[in-house]
Amino acid sequence: MTDKIENSFKDFLTCLQMAKLYGASHPITLKSTEKAYFSLQDALADRQELVIGIIGAELAFEKEIFFDLSKFLNQPITYLKSRGIERIVFSRGFELGELNKFIGFLALPKEEIKGDPQESLVLSGIRSISVGKVKGSPGYGKSGRLEGLNSYQASLDQISPSLTKMMNNEAVDGLSLKLAVNNIVNNLGVYYDQLFELATLKRYDTGTFIHLLNVSILSMHFSSKLGFSKDVITDIGISALFHDIGKLYISRKTIRKPGQLSAQEFKQMESHTVFGAKLLMRYVEAIGIMPIVVCFEHHLKHDLSGYPKSVFKNKQHIVSAIVSICDVYDALSQRRSYKTDYPPDMIHGLMMRGSGTSFDPDLLNSFFKSIGVWPIGSILLLSDKRVGVVAEENEANIFLPKVRIIHPQNNGEIIDLKENKEGIKIERYLSPWSEGKEFLHLV
Ligand SMILES: [Fe+2]
Ligand SMILES: [Fe+2]
Repeated sequence: MTDKIENSFKDFLTCLQMAKLYGASHPITLKSTEKAYFSLQDALADRQELVIGIIGAELAFEKEIFFDLSKFLNQPITYLKSRGIERIVFSRGFELGELNKFIGFLALPKEEIKGDPQESLVLSGIRSISVGKVKGSPGYGKSGRLEGLNSYQASLDQISPSLTKMMNNEAVDGLSLKLAVNNIVNNLGVYYDQLFELATLKRYDTGTFIHLLNVSILSMHFSSKLGFSKDVITDIGISALFHDIGKLYISRKTIRKPGQLSAQEFKQMESHTVFGAKLLMRYVEAIGIMPIVVCFEHHLKHDLSGYPKSVFKNKQHIVSAIVSICDVYDALSQRRSYKTDYPPDMIHGLMMRGSGTSFDPDLLNSFFKSIGVWPIGSILLLSDKRVGVVAEENEANIFLPKVRIIHPQNNGEIIDLKENKEGIKIERYLSPWSEGKEFLHLV
């Protein structure tokens, strides 16, 4: 099925290229338009309409984003976007004549297209093809990219409706969700430092979805370091986003309760895995199977000593194992009512104790290689009494990152703690909520 759709997209965008090169009425263009007409008809055989979406630089159809195809069709995609067209809908029964007119319209010089493109189509008698903007793609601002820290909030704004809808038992738009997560992947590439700092260190807000977004960001960062392809990373991000969906149903009182939980409360808490997986089953069409697996398995642990108990002794799926590590990391680094802050080196120590039992040892090592013991943005007091902020990890020694000095002089000096001849060491971590607060504006 997808092949048919891909072919029709390809043929359509190819005939647009021909029209731009030779003009809309040239025989070569007409031939190419005819080819596109038949492949679009073919794709429409079992549906009422065919919607081509352009999100960022990607082509999309329903919940599918065609990353590979997008690479080859970069030019026509950019061209359509420059004309404010992000969505083209072909309705069943459209005619070849309409397609010819439509291609002619698209190939017009930009200056000749005035007003709303959809109105122009209606005026020229094209009834079965319409154009517009993609709903729910606010992630791309005027500059084409979100700006640094805003992207965190924007990501939150974009994923929140899907999560709320699930909580209310309403339908979820799989494509919008995939796009929102895809936006985070794109922004991770550009604003990695800022997004990552927010996900690991500088978080003051502990809103309901923050943990889900952070685990999603951490999981996508980690899986990109593991070498997964972009579309797999998007699926991992979506899976991480829903890992605790079952928890949102459990009484807040239980979740935030300081101290020991009663046996009954504990059972209720554990049920979020099974409960969440069952809930996600209703959305399998929109989000796929992976989130269900991850939701079910994320507390299972590497040695299967966790929950839910199962008669099957299958080990955790690798995506569940990735999400488990990021889940525990975020839970330990979050400021909660019932615990004081753990400095990053203590979190590393605590998690390493679970190597081989809670976590797959190789995966855990790779995780800390990818973020270091001191994540980027950590504020550190050095042994020479200067204050620095972690600027870059050293994969060869995760304890000794590169640090940018910010106090008493903030002149951009970088010290590689692994290489420095003066023997400067880390004295201690300065939490952004206490001692580190006064240096935050310099970070
Ligand atoms: Fe959980
Ligand atoms: Fe969690």
